[in-house]
Amino acid sequence: MAGNIRTIGVSTGGGDAPGLNAVIRGLVRAAIGDYGWRVMGIPDGFDGLIWPEKAREITEKSVSGILPRGGTILGTTNRGNPFQYQVEENGQTVTKDFAPLCLENLRRLKIDAMVVIGGDGTLSIANEFFKLGMKVVGVPKTIDNDLSATEVTFGFDTALQVATDALDRLHTTAESHHRVMVMEVMGRDAGWIALHAGIAGGAHVILMPEIPFTIQHVCEKIGERELMGRKFSLVVVAEGAKLPETDASGKPIPSAKPGQVGNTIAYAIRDYLKKDVRVTVLGHIQRGGSPSPFDRILATRFGVAAADAISRGDFGMMVCLRAGEVIAVPLQEAIGVYKTVQPSSGLVRAARGVGISFGDSA
Ligand code: F6P
Repeated sequence: MAGNIRTIGVSTGGGDAPGLNAVIRGLVRAAIGDYGWRVMGIPDGFDGLIWPEKAREITEKSVSGILPRGGTILGTTNRGNPFQYQVEENGQTVTKDFAPLCLENLRRLKIDAMVVIGGDGTLSIANEFFKLGMKVVGVPKTIDNDLSATEVTFGFDTALQVATDALDRLHTTAESHHRVMVMEVMGRDAGWIALHAGIAGGAHVILMPEIPFTIQHVCEKIGERELMGRKFSLVVVAEGAKLPETDASGKPIPSAKPGQVGNTIAYAIRDYLKKDVRVTVLGHIQRGGSPSPFDRILATRFGVAAADAISRGDFGMMVCLRAGEVIAVPLQEAIGVYKTVQPSSGLVRAARGVGISFGDSA
């Protein structure tokens, strides 16, 4: 038991995800209501421990009404590791270790334990702080759903709804104009959003990092549909999909960053099939806005579970969902292992079963 806890801190780091505010609310309510702790909000991820002037107390009143709100009331950043922080000094970029300063500022703020909500990068930093003595509990977050230690991350369900809705809308306009529509979704290292949205939205082709594809196979699928009188096709591509080296005519395909992958594939399809192709890059629309009921509930459970973990003295741990229950696992085991789509999984089989092509030879 952690009877010596009086004040806890909470921060959100990395890209935002719908549900962050629900975690903060769950944590604050349990911390104050069940344990009688004070809660300090640390702004903008670990930056707020380097420059703690804007840290502020969060009360039950501060979290009132934030459950349905997207984003994070604490602010976040996906740049800046306090252990190797890049700063400008005399016109030069220098790397500084601000970790001792962060620990000192924690003491100044009288924070006894921290709850760090973030993705793999943020939680890895949290684990480094734990090794230096910080009492820390992690909460996993990413719309990409690619953290291996938890079955689901909050934010994924909301992103999936946005992507599915977009695909439904593209469906009707694609059909009316007899066009190929390419929709690029997020998923830097894993194709979960592409796969789920593609199945839910009736895509004809899904392209993702886990399954190598060729433009030839993508065009063959579109061509087969044309022969059956289906003159339109929907292609969902994850931003992290690995582009083949050449297009269907053997010409080199230029490398593309997230945000350009859909356009690059569309260009290759247009070039080969001479069909009208349009592109939608959903981008940060998938991350913004109100969380779905599923995400609100999961986030609330994680927030309350983080408070419970502190009360038990479970530091260096991360809360996660396993078999429907929220448990805590060591941060060390949870970080650095991505959960990717298994090409032989039942979900991929179901997609193939309804005729979806992954742009491969299967
Ligand atoms: O990791 C979550 C994620 O949404 C990725 O899918 C995406 O590549 C990245 O964040 C985008 O981050 P940024 O906000 O820096 O553009």
